[in-house]
Amino acid sequence: MIEAIYPINWAGDYELIDSGSGMKLEKFGGQILARPEPQAIWNARLSKAEWEGMQTGNFAQEGSHKGQWNLKGQSKPWFINYKLGGDSIKMKLNFTQFKHVGIFPEQAANWDYIYTKSKELEGKASVLNLFAYTGGASLAAKSAGVDVVHVDSIKQVVSWANENQEYSKLKNIRWVVEDALKFVSREVKREKKYQGIILDPPAYGIGAKGERWKLEEKLGELLQQVAKLLSHDGFMVLNVYSLGLSPYIIQNMMTDYFSDRVVTITELCLKSRTQQILPLGIVARI
Ligand SMILES: C[S@@+](CC[C@H](N)C(=O)[O-])C[C@H]1O[C@@H](n2cnc3c(N)ncnc32)[C@H](O)[C@@H]1O
Repeated sequence: MIEAIYPINWAGDYELIDSGSGMKLEKFGGQILARPEPQAIWNARLSKAEWEGMQTGNFAQEGSHKGQWNLKGQSKPWFINYKLGGDSIKMKLNFTQFKHVGIFPEQAANWDYIYTKSKELEGKASVLNLFAYTGGASLAAKSAGVDVVHVDSIKQVVSWANENQEYSKLKNIRWVVEDALKFVSREVKREKKYQGIILDPPAYGIGAKGERWKLEEKLGELLQQVAKLLSHDGFMVLNVYSLGLSPYIIQNMMTDYFSDRVVTITELCLKSRTQQILPLGIVARI
C-alpha cells in the first residue's frame, strides 16, 4: 500500500479549503484563490455561492476570461512564511500566467524532510536542487546551513528565487540557469559529489538553450546520472507530478539506479478543510 504524505506545518499561511469540478479553493496568506485542478473530478463540498463569497480571485478555465486572473482587489505581490524547526523562510507570491502564484504548497512536506536531512549534515555538505523554480527547497536546505546549488532553465524564476533568498535573510546559494540534464552530465564528468539531491521535473519542459524535456523519455537517463553524483550516504528527494503516472513506475525506476539504497515511495497530497484528499504527485526519498 503506497502511503500518503501531507504538509503539516502550514500555520495559517496556506490552506486547501475545498476542491471539486476541476477546481481548487486555496488560502495563500491574505488571498483566497480558485484555480483549475485537473485531478479534482469529484463534487465540491461547499456551494458555488460559498466559493464566490470567500474568494478574492480566480483563474478562469473557461468563458470570455479563460486563462486570466479575475481579482476583486489589485493585482500586486504578497508574501507568505513557512517555519522550519527554529528557522523560517519568506517567499513572494504573485499572479502569473498559467494559474501559478510562485509556490507549490504541497512541496512543504518535502521542505520539512530536506531541512531535517540537511541539518543532520551539520553544514559540511552540498545539496543540489534541480528544476528548482522559486526556491522553496533550496531555502529549506540553505536555512539548515549547507551549501546549495539551484538549477532551473528559466532566468526569471531563478531571479525570483534570489529575491526569496533575500526576503528569507539567507545568502550564498549558487544560481545556475541551465538545462538540468546538461548540468548534471557536466558535474558527473567533473566527478563532483553531493550529499543531497532534490529533483522535481515537470512532465514537459524546455532547457535554457531549447533542450526538450519530456519526463517519460528523459527521467531514466537523469536518474542514471544523478546516481553517479549522489554520495554513498547522501539523501535524495524525487518529486514527480504527471497525471496518471503510477507510483510503481517510479519504484521500478528507482530500483534500476538505486538498488543499494533504501527507497520510500509515497503519494504527495493536500488535505482540505472539507476533509478531502487531493493527490498531487509521487515522492521517492532516500
Ligand atoms: C514543477 S516546477 C518545480 C517546482 C519546484 N520543485 C518547487 O517546488 O518550487 C518545474 C520547474 O522546472 C523548470 N524546468 C523545465 N524544464 C527544465 C529543464 N530542461 N532544465 C531545468 N529546469 C527546467 C521550470 O522552469 C520550472 O521552474
